Amino acid sequence: MFKKNNKKTIKFIDLFAGIGGFHQALKNVVKENSNLNSKCVFVSEIDKNAIKTYVENFNFPKDKIVNIRDIKNYGKDVPDHDFLFAGFPCQTFSNAGHKKGFLDKIRGTLFFDVAKIIEKKKPKYFLLENVKHLTNHDNGKTWKIIIKTLKKLDYIVNDEPLIISPHEYDIPQERQRVFIIGILKNKKTKKYNKINFNNLYIDLNKNKKNNFHINDYNSWKEIKKYIENNFLEKNVANKYYLNAKNKKDKYLINVLNAWEKFIKNIKTPKGRTIPVIWLNEFLDLDYNINHFSKWKQKYIQDMRIIYKMNKKFIDNWMKKYDVINWKKREQKLEWQAGKDIRNIKDSFIQLRQSGIRCKRPIKFPTLVAMVQIPIIFDNQKNKWRKLTPRETSNLQCFPKDFKIFSDLSLNKNADFYSYKQFGNSVNVNIVSKIQKFILNEKGLEYVE
Ligand SMILES: C[S@@+](CC[C@H](N)C(=O)[O-])C[C@H]1O[C@@H](n2cnc3c(N)ncnc32)[C@H](O)[C@@H]1O
Repeated sequence: MFKKNNKKTIKFIDLFAGIGGFHQALKNVVKENSNLNSKCVFVSEIDKNAIKTYVENFNFPKDKIVNIRDIKNYGKDVPDHDFLFAGFPCQTFSNAGHKKGFLDKIRGTLFFDVAKIIEKKKPKYFLLENVKHLTNHDNGKTWKIIIKTLKKLDYIVNDEPLIISPHEYDIPQERQRVFIIGILKNKKTKKYNKINFNNLYIDLNKNKKNNFHINDYNSWKEIKKYIENNFLEKNVANKYYLNAKNKKDKYLINVLNAWEKFIKNIKTPKGRTIPVIWLNEFLDLDYNINHFSKWKQKYIQDMRIIYKMNKKFIDNWMKKYDVINWKKREQKLEWQAGKDIRNIKDSFIQLRQSGIRCKRPIKFPTLVAMVQIPIIFDNQKNKWRKLTPRETSNLQCFPKDFKIFSDLSLNKNADFYSYKQFGNSVNVNIVSKIQKFILNEKGLEYVE
């Protein structure tokens, strides 16, 4: 006899879906729980490349994916669902002084569309995600309006921002994101007014490795190994390596090699690490600094002392690596790799507009859509390389068999779009834990 299938199916909608981080996360929750099924009933997205990735991975009909602005009737056009997901863009709300309706303050924004869908469809749960900055955007006004709006729609919502970064939970990417959770007030839940996150934090910490802490500053070698084994690829295609035959790469290799020599050889007062080295200060040692702030004067004096301590080395080094002709941003090195690392090749490198930043090799900076991809040194091949799109997928905890845009498209900029898509997405493992927490309704409380 077959057992009657009485699995509960969670119907969900994916707004501003991107490549489906929320969708993937719920798929993982369902896979772990034999009593659950999930069904995606509505998707909203406008970026054609992200849509391609979404459709290929989740088999959702492309022609059913809509611009949220094209929804005419929020009640009829959006199917009934249990769970709503949205990583909506952060926009400023109007003062709407003379208007009366509570939705008026947000009218015209993309958050308005989300709120209207919630108002009309009353899903049991919602999960919204945004950059941490949302909490202090427009002096905190935006956050207050969002929470007030959602509460008025008859939901229990977290007043306090739930801010989580994967790097705190064994995932080596710093990515502070704020989450807003909503649980519909019904017969069972209406007696509650607060969400307590204790159980979520217990779950987030559960699988954290005991002998390993992403913030443990003593065991970076062990952590680096863990990252290499779990997040980096073993066989990386040649195109991700900096190539001395390419003019741009050649310049960058020269810059990185030069800084490597610099860090290894430079002597500093009492062996201190200097967080920012700005070569500008070695070029003119006599200009007047009295009008600068105290800290800036101290910084320039430090640079001058370092120059005097290393004069011969620095003069030769500047000549050898043609430092004068570097772009301004490469002339500045920000050392965030700590005292015990003395080799730039051990650090993770971020090329920023403001300078080259070397970070401790225990976590990658936030992957964002447009910024240069982190650079690491491959000791086996003795070469610098960029992270691959698959590695950025790993850092966002998408499964190994997730089809990435670079594999799906012949577009010559396919890698760029892949980086952008993972930079825009959510960390799948973190979102899974939050979804599980919401579905369990274990955090509801009543507070006077
Ligand atoms: C921060 S990303 C969200 C990514 C998503 N959470 C994921 O896991 O990949 C925001 C997305 O909103 C989409 N978007 C912007 N305006 C939109 C609109 N009017 N309708 C639907 N999607 C829109 C953008 O194309 C972008 O992919």
